[in-house]
Amino acid sequence: MSAVLLLLFCLGGTRALDNGLALTPTMGWLHWQRFMCNTDCKSDPHNCISENLFMQMADVMVTEGWKEAGYEFVCIDDCWLDSSRDLKGRLQPHPTRFPSGIRKLADYVHSKGLKLGIYQDVGNQTCAGFPGSFGHYEQDAKTFAEWGVDLLKFDGCGFGTLDLLAEGYRNMSIALNKTGRSIVYSCEWPLYEFSLQKPNFTEIRKYCNHWRNYNDICDSWDSVKSIVDWSAGHQDVIVEAAGPGGWNDPDMLVIGNFGLSWDQQITHMALWAIMAAPLLMSNDLRMIDPRSKALLQNRDVIAINQDPMGVQGRQFFKVNNFELWERPLANASFAVAVFNRLEIGGPRVFKLPLYFIGDGTACIKGCGITQILPYRWDFGWQRSNHALEIKVNPTSTVLLKVTVHRELYPKLTFVHEDKHRNDIL
Ligand SMILES: *[C@@H]1O[C@H](CO)[C@@H](O)[C@H](O)[C@H]1NC(C)=O
Ligand SMILES: *[C@@H]1O[C@H](CO)[C@@H](O)[C@H](O)[C@H]1NC(C)=O
Ligand SMILES: *[C@@H]1O[C@H](CO)[C@@H](O)[C@H](O)[C@H]1NC(C)=O
Ligand SMILES: *[C@@H]1O[C@H](CO)[C@@H](O)[C@H](O)[C@H]1NC(C)=O
Ligand SMILES: *[C@@H]1O[C@H](CO)[C@@H](O)[C@H](O)[C@H]1NC(C)=O
Repeated sequence: MSAVLLLLFCLGGTRALDNGLALTPTMGWLHWQRFMCNTDCKSDPHNCISENLFMQMADVMVTEGWKEAGYEFVCIDDCWLDSSRDLKGRLQPHPTRFPSGIRKLADYVHSKGLKLGIYQDVGNQTCAGFPGSFGHYEQDAKTFAEWGVDLLKFDGCGFGTLDLLAEGYRNMSIALNKTGRSIVYSCEWPLYEFSLQKPNFTEIRKYCNHWRNYNDICDSWDSVKSIVDWSAGHQDVIVEAAGPGGWNDPDMLVIGNFGLSWDQQITHMALWAIMAAPLLMSNDLRMIDPRSKALLQNRDVIAINQDPMGVQGRQFFKVNNFELWERPLANASFAVAVFNRLEIGGPRVFKLPLYFIGDGTACIKGCGITQILPYRWDFGWQRSNHALEIKVNPTSTVLLKVTVHRELYPKLTFVHEDKHRNDIL
């Protein structure tokens, strides 16, 4: 066991929610960013929030290699509910959009070897105005467990007071535990706290498997940048909160939609891997550009995101519109991202001195460097007095894996051949 891992397990204060789940960041699909609150099944049956949408996503997750790549959860966001509870006070899905009910939908998703996520809110109403869970935490947790739900995204709209917010998130966590069913608990507790008081991440980690800290992501480069900048700006607080069982959630992946250039999609994927972020795609898997699909299914990037040591990476150097990010990985390896923030001109070269990596320790006895993004490239075994010339497009990122143990370096295996290299160059 490495020193870092040992430290993580020994710090009583960073103990994770004890449900045995999310030992690596959750992977799956979540409807919000791409499909929002589209309830108009009359004129837009293909894209409205209905059981068909989730069944179709489950189908393609299996047939198009998503499940095999590790994407496991099919998640419903807001707008699945009917406008009121039933006579016994139980939640009910919208009758015409989810005519078979959630239990049937869960059975269907489970029959594909996938898991089902659902959405509720700590307050009296969800963000879109549907019945919230306030006053019904135990009842709703029981309902979700009876339906066979595997993940709950619990929003914080209309939380009332900070005390009610905290009590609500804690009480729902306890209620989920009491059901006896394993349910990943995805919180937005710190997001609603941040503007009013400093969140207590020791406590949040005790009750939640992941937690949103900052604004919803949109399908734009400005949005991705603002999240990255927020994360870097708060890394001294949030990075140490992350670890197996509990993660900072910078929100969904919007790769494969409309708003990001190819280079920006690479940056999005690379930095979400470095940040140990849940990988919850919000896109249309039924119709997605093959290049975006290959990026989202890139086994080497996913392996960095899912690294078993579970240490979140951080920005460690900024110069001349370049940002360097680094994440320590198992087996004394590292992931390093070189991000070009300049939004004018052409590709620029960053000379990466190898003594930068791992606080100067990584390459002392030499190290193996493999470029993972934008395309696979072996730099070979390097000495620490060397500087690598890394060429990065505007708004793009070069993601490297640095292997310290020589015996592991030639054993790095790559599932995806470099077939996209030509369209990138
Ligand atoms: C509930 O919590 C207990 C103690 O913290 C834990 O051992 C158990 O596995 C949890 N059960 C579920 C279903 O999460
Ligand atoms: C929900 O509504 C009830 C009744 O109006 C109120 O007492 C309670 O404080 C509300 N909860 C929140 C979180 O605002
Ligand atoms: C949380 O649970 C405690 C103990 O059952 C209860 O006293 C409190 O009212 C609950 N708070 C909320 C917001 O439901
Ligand atoms: C944060 O929460 C932990 C665990 O609940 C508690 O022990 C600690 O006192 C809290 N810290 C602050 C500053 O409130
Ligand atoms: C660490 O190295 C061992 C071989 O020494 C290998 O089996 C294991 O998969 C490696 N772990 C990771 C996360 O790369």
